[in-house]
Amino acid sequence: MPKSMEVTDKAVLVTGANRGLGKALVEEILRRGAKRVYAGARKPLAHADRRVTPLILDVTDTAQIEAAVERVGSLDILINNAGIGLYDDLGDRAALERHLAVNLLGVHGVTDAFLPLLTSSRGAVVNILSEAALVPFPIPSYSLSKAAAFSMTQSLRALAGARGVSVHAVLSGPIDTDMSRDADIPKSSAESVAKGILDGMARGEEEIFPDPKSASMAESWRGSAFKALERQMAAFVQAMPAKS
Ligand SMILES: NC(=O)c1ccc[n+]([C@@H]2O[C@H](COP(=O)([O-])OP(=O)(O)OC[C@H]3O[C@@H](n4cnc5c(N)ncnc54)[C@H](OP(=O)(O)O)[C@@H]3O)[C@@H](O)[C@H]2O)c1
Repeated sequence: MPKSMEVTDKAVLVTGANRGLGKALVEEILRRGAKRVYAGARKPLAHADRRVTPLILDVTDTAQIEAAVERVGSLDILINNAGIGLYDDLGDRAALERHLAVNLLGVHGVTDAFLPLLTSSRGAVVNILSEAALVPFPIPSYSLSKAAAFSMTQSLRALAGARGVSVHAVLSGPIDTDMSRDADIPKSSAESVAKGILDGMARGEEEIFPDPKSASMAESWRGSAFKALERQMAAFVQAMPAKS
């Protein structure tokens, strides 16, 4: 089981920190007493709080990821928040590739690069996914990329868990940000979802359902045959001999 992960006195990196949920996460993490917040963004970003260190970080850019690792030096919590969500009908391969590049391979690249630091600190990875990881929404390439990122998150949990790194998946419902601007559906504020995510981490939840809509699925997910099978498979992974 993952350990409770509070942000107080911790060094935390948030990707996509310039707007939307990422920005709200930065504010809530500061409010809860983090020691340092690395705010990743594609363009230069300024913040009045001296605990914030801006980082130029396009999650699809390997050189920028490597430079960020050099700059950060030590890290307790990585929050993979950066993402894109564009409408498509699966007829446009370029749209699918763009979603996979950011929402799957971007998360993979950043996590892989920071894993040694997180292993040293026995820290945490938090992947901002979506309910669309569980059931496809009418934005198929986005849903597909989030479903793949959820599977990657579960594999990482089994692999990195053995090294003391806890891995959380955030399965949020709609959030009132630029991404969902055109969707005429009930949405939760980014501020309330940021609080829900940090509360879920503090409770040590593997899957975090941070808003009222997704929270209605939490109990059935945690008691499901899917979750039991995930734990069974994780035990196999952890029993396998370590690669030299
Ligand atoms: N909004 C929702 O309804 C909803 C629901 C569930 C989950 N989520 C997830 O929540 C996360 C945040 O989304 P949001 O709602 O806050 O959307 P948003 O307002 O559109 O913000 C997206 C953020 O991701 C950044 N980003 C995009 N591509 C990037 C790249 N290649 N490298 C680095 N940063 C990049 C954007 O930076 P730029 O400003 O440079 O573009 C921006 O900071 C996403 O993972 C999203 O899938 C959103």
